[in-house]
Amino acid sequence: MRTQVAIIGGGPSGLLLSQLLHRAGIESVVLERKTKDYVLSRIRAGVLEVGLVDQLRAAGAGARLDRDGIIHDGTVISYGDEQIRVDFTEHTGTHVTVYGQTEVTRDLYDAREAMNGNFAFNVEGVAIHDTDTNTPFVTYHVDGSEHRLDCDYVAGCDGFHGVSRATIPENVRREYEKIYPFGWLGILSETPPVHDELIYASSDVGFALCSMRNENLSRYYVQCEITDSPDNWSDDAFWEALKRRIPEEHATNLVTGPSIEKSIAPLRSFVSEPMRWGRLFLCGDAAHIVPPTGAKGLNTAASDVHYLSQALIQFYTANDSECIERYSEKALARVWKAERFSWWMTSLLHRFPDQSAFDIRMQQAEVAFLRDNTSAQAVLAQNYVGLPY
Ligand code: APR
Ligand code: PHB
Repeated sequence: MRTQVAIIGGGPSGLLLSQLLHRAGIESVVLERKTKDYVLSRIRAGVLEVGLVDQLRAAGAGARLDRDGIIHDGTVISYGDEQIRVDFTEHTGTHVTVYGQTEVTRDLYDAREAMNGNFAFNVEGVAIHDTDTNTPFVTYHVDGSEHRLDCDYVAGCDGFHGVSRATIPENVRREYEKIYPFGWLGILSETPPVHDELIYASSDVGFALCSMRNENLSRYYVQCEITDSPDNWSDDAFWEALKRRIPEEHATNLVTGPSIEKSIAPLRSFVSEPMRWGRLFLCGDAAHIVPPTGAKGLNTAASDVHYLSQALIQFYTANDSECIERYSEKALARVWKAERFSWWMTSLLHRFPDQSAFDIRMQQAEVAFLRDNTSAQAVLAQNYVGLPY
């Protein structure tokens, strides 16, 4: 089989790329290790920057999002007794849209299928060959039979545990990593959200986040030990931990109920450079991970897809490879800023096991500065709604 762009991974990055290329007349094949149902069972963050919303519309996958997405003009940062509302619209003239990543992925699958997109699911043993030549190809198995896909370019959209990153030789690759000494225990519950905006809360016993999916579906998180297991947490224990960490007025109003999902996520910052090796490009979680504080994971994947789709369109329509040559540099410039922002929010709002009294004073001083200084609020707002592409 032959295509123009072989896309490894049918998560949001691979699907969005495939759909944007299709709309520009460029053919691709998406190779996914799991099934579509498995991909759609993963629960991830749900805050979309305007840049991602625009791309989903351009991909023909924006109708449901435009109907059901909830516009948020600000967020609440609470630290001990302080509550600061950061107004996105006032500081940036724009907003974010709250809409679950699972729904984004579902809409992309629907759009891709409506255009007879070429997918292979349950692929095993994907290997990427010769991307340092002009004739790259990908081999894989499905149900024991071997396949070969010849292509012009390979897009590695296969997430943190994929094969694409490891295809770049070790002597070319440089990895940067920070593992945080805690996790997030998250639950989904069919209860109304405690507030109409997200609340990022830091208390003397750790961090909590109040988020939402719709008017009767809430997503909450509390900071937990990295070695903890969701089995150690009854729903009651979770609700008590959450109430202890959020402002009292919200704790009093919190509507609790049975959890319909409960899981623990580790927190990691990670970047692998470069993001291009010859005719192989890395996109999204394959190249970088952020801690979830600030919800930059999917949004940063989307900015990679933007740079990559533009570069490929420029190549195929104008025979100009300048943006392909500069893909890694352009994508990484924005990735590092998102890394900085999510590291900063994580550092500001969590309790660290080795934190000294001085460290806590530094967090408090930073929060006081944020409360009193509109420029500091503007910086938070600009990063939260998303830096320009
Ligand atoms: N072969 C084929 N597919 C693979 C392989 C492989 N060897 N390894 C992984 N995959 C598939 C995974 O099954 C998954 O469906 O690649 C897909 C990668 O999807 P994600 O991990 O969701 O990564 P990405 O598409 O870059 O999405 C960006 O934003 O909020 C963050 O981490 C969150 O998933 C999110 C990400
Ligand atoms: C979520 O809704 O799951 C969510 C929202 C904001 C974050 C992280 C997760 O920063």
